[in-house]
Amino acid sequence: MVPPTTRRRALRLLFGAVPSAGLLLAQRARASSPPPPSSANGRPTVRVLMPAPFADATADAVRRFNAGSAPWRIAVSRGPLDTEALSDLASSSLLLGETPFDLLLMDVSWTARYAAAGWLEPLEPLLGDDALAGMVPTARLGNGFGGHLWRLPLSGDTALLYWRTDLLPRPPGDLDELVGMARDLQRRGRVRWGHVWQGRQYEGLSCVVLEALHAFGGRWWDPETGRTVLGDPAALKAVTWLTELVRGGVSPRGVANFAENDALQLFSAGESAFLRNWPYAWALLNQDGCPVRGKVAVTPLPGAPGFRGGGTLGTWGFSLLAGSPHPRAAAEVIRWFTGPAVQRELLLSQGYAPTWRALYVDPALLTRHPLLAVQRQALDTPLVRPLTPLYAQISDVLQRQINGLLTSSEAPAIALGRAQGQSDQILRAMGALASP
Ligand code: GLC
Repeated sequence: MVPPTTRRRALRLLFGAVPSAGLLLAQRARASSPPPPSSANGRPTVRVLMPAPFADATADAVRRFNAGSAPWRIAVSRGPLDTEALSDLASSSLLLGETPFDLLLMDVSWTARYAAAGWLEPLEPLLGDDALAGMVPTARLGNGFGGHLWRLPLSGDTALLYWRTDLLPRPPGDLDELVGMARDLQRRGRVRWGHVWQGRQYEGLSCVVLEALHAFGGRWWDPETGRTVLGDPAALKAVTWLTELVRGGVSPRGVANFAENDALQLFSAGESAFLRNWPYAWALLNQDGCPVRGKVAVTPLPGAPGFRGGGTLGTWGFSLLAGSPHPRAAAEVIRWFTGPAVQRELLLSQGYAPTWRALYVDPALLTRHPLLAVQRQALDTPLVRPLTPLYAQISDVLQRQINGLLTSSEAPAIALGRAQGQSDQILRAMGALASP
């Protein structure tokens, strides 16, 4: 067991200054809503923190669980939707040395960082070595680190390309075609914008850049050297392509300030031919009153000519926080939350992509949910973000540099050179890279 002060010192080294907004949020959250008690009426309470949309989506299932005969109950706290905001909230309370939660619904990009910080309990002693065995292979990625299982995924998302079936006879086969189709529709006045995506300085932009890098045969991270590889010619092509979407008018300049919902709003109002988003967008685009309802299809993200495309793996999954007073009950709650029954319900009610293989081959689900077959196909080539405890820092560098490009006339090579240099500096300062 690592003494708390040593652990806190190590954490400060790893994380730098505690994000002050997150710290304030954590203090405010603690002050304004007292943490749920860890037991009620003699029944242990498993306290869970998750982004508000997941809390809403699972509310009915949780109500039924609590009304049932399980010897424990579940209390869910709603956190912010943004992955960084939720992580700031969670990590700030963990850095303060206490957390009022047993379980945390974590983005796949947090695993290495939280595991390395000692904030999580390994799950294999509680759930068995085969806990992921029935899941599609890609949903199993990003849950382990350093030989342990830290997380069980609730959803199996990969980013997809949404396109308008009333404007186009078929989806684009590659990125050149995407731009050609978009320009043609814009020229003929059929649609205002060609392609909308997420260019704000936040984690969503890192996912978009990762997809562009892969689409041109490049990479963000070399796991062999533990270094980013943004100086490659492929990286330059990829980032030039993204930048040109905005500079050439296929994407609005406002993309530089778009997160998922902003891009979705524009596309759902009928203003764009293409949209890059996660599977949840399907249900929203097909709900009553949506102007493009029935006029949208979805396809895996294409690559540049001659290259295979792919979407970022964006799963959310449950982790057990170290110090939980009832780890066994909490682990059973993880098993229930991530099990096929809850995932089936979430697919039908919200369009969340499942992780269980059995759900992807269920004929009834495939008929009711056309997205499932595309999602299964997209899961074959998932793009995994760098699995390093320093991920948040190098992602921040990439977002900053690429977002800067979208709002300036700087040459992409300069921004990429800076991103590579700053990433190296961070890795070196933290001892993850030898000095040159
Ligand atoms: C989605 C993905 C998550 C990603 C985030 C970026 O929530 O599931 O993995 O980090 O979008 O905005």
